[in-house]
Amino acid sequence: MADKAFIKLGEKEVELPIYVGTEGEESIDINKLRDLTGFVTLDSGYKNTGATKSGITFLDGELGILRYRGYPIEQLAEKSNFMEVAYLLLYGELPTNDQFVDFTDRITHHTLVHEDVKQFFDGFPSNAHPMGQLCSLMCTLSSFYPDSLNPNMSKEATDLTIIRILAKMATVVSWIHKKSVGHPIMYPQNKYDYVSNFLYMTFGMRTEEYVPDPVVVDALDKLLILHADHEQNCSTSTVRMVGSSQANAYASVAAGVAALWGPLHGGANQQVIEMLEIIKADGGNVAKFVEKAKDKNDNFRLMGFGHRVYKNFDPRAKIIKEACDNVLNKLGVFDPVLDIAKQLEEVALKDPYFVERKLYPNVDFYSGIIYRAIGFPTEMFTVLFALGRLPGWLSQWKEMREANEPIGRPRQIYTGPTVRDYTNIAIR
Ligand code: SDX
Repeated sequence: MADKAFIKLGEKEVELPIYVGTEGEESIDINKLRDLTGFVTLDSGYKNTGATKSGITFLDGELGILRYRGYPIEQLAEKSNFMEVAYLLLYGELPTNDQFVDFTDRITHHTLVHEDVKQFFDGFPSNAHPMGQLCSLMCTLSSFYPDSLNPNMSKEATDLTIIRILAKMATVVSWIHKKSVGHPIMYPQNKYDYVSNFLYMTFGMRTEEYVPDPVVVDALDKLLILHADHEQNCSTSTVRMVGSSQANAYASVAAGVAALWGPLHGGANQQVIEMLEIIKADGGNVAKFVEKAKDKNDNFRLMGFGHRVYKNFDPRAKIIKEACDNVLNKLGVFDPVLDIAKQLEEVALKDPYFVERKLYPNVDFYSGIIYRAIGFPTEMFTVLFALGRLPGWLSQWKEMREANEPIGRPRQIYTGPTVRDYTNIAIR
């Protein structure tokens, strides 16, 4: 393993240190590159650039490995729960029983959202996209906690802010669903655990008793675990970038929601279901749509397929695919698009176009089928992704701030007009 890198620029040669992570990932530390050479690097989409050192999540795209704080995602999805995983991501270790009780108890007692927030919420039209509402409301919450705007607030105050955001996003998400179906919002019930409370607030009605179905609670809890963090993806990098300016946690999370909204990122889970519905309406000819996805003159993409890092199966997709059959069977739900999804996967994974480009189903390919079986409308899917990703965003924001990382400010290579003198062109 090399311990130095050498860059030769004409007659000049510079030496740069090699930095190796705990899993043997190797990097060239270019912190001094510009001072030494006057050069910067160019890496559109940061495909080859490590933005930071992080101890939260490790993934190996070639091997299809994903671990939160060293624990394999397969074990966490099978044996843990979303609140325990949130604690693990935030504090680095699995909680003792007392720590878990304290953590979940604090979250339970912060699920109420200030009544005045409703005045902002009521301003949205009923068909406003859930992600636009969530982005706005998460930033709005900062107005009700002015202390959280202080970048030098104490560790305890920072921790309280994180607890508040974790607790209140679930309530806000349930409000957004209620608006979309024209039902009155429900208030949190402290007798429920986090996921049961979210389901109660989302699907409960003031007119009748609602008891969360354990099958649904378990399925949603597993999906939230699988979405909880994913190292430096687009939205998490956005949260870190915004937080690096010492913007508060609410604003940083709102920025993460905005980034996740994009159809190439978290918005893909909604696009997958819409794509499967189109294929179903077209007669279910999956081969036809695989050909469209390969056609460079056709802007159709196989949504839920491909990944910037995974060049093997996304381990989350494997777990969700298995859960699909289990949950739909237990709920007695038959969803024809599940069979279309499986056929699409089978045809695509045999096609050289997808094999050569190492395009496999990602976390978004099957998740929407379970969300739909639980009863969520398609437009709510990306908001559910955000709810799952929230502990990851907050953990990464916390790690960045505790490391006193500098404000993010990438360089560029200018390609515009060179210097020229002003001459008045407009005839006045
Ligand atoms: C998430 O980063 C993360 O960790 C994200 C995430 C997380 O947990 O945070 O995992 C969540 O965002 C998952 C990805 C969800 N997005 C989609 O499912 C949208 C469909 N997939 C793509 O658009 C694409 O695969 C990306 C955006 C996911 C990755 O894009 P890259 O890495 O920039 O790769 P690319 O677009 O340059 O594609 C490489 C080649 C191209 O073909 P060529 O130019 O080499 O001929 O693969 C092709 C692309 O055209 N390709 C696809 C394809 N995805 C890539 N062709 C058809 N269908 C697709 N889905």
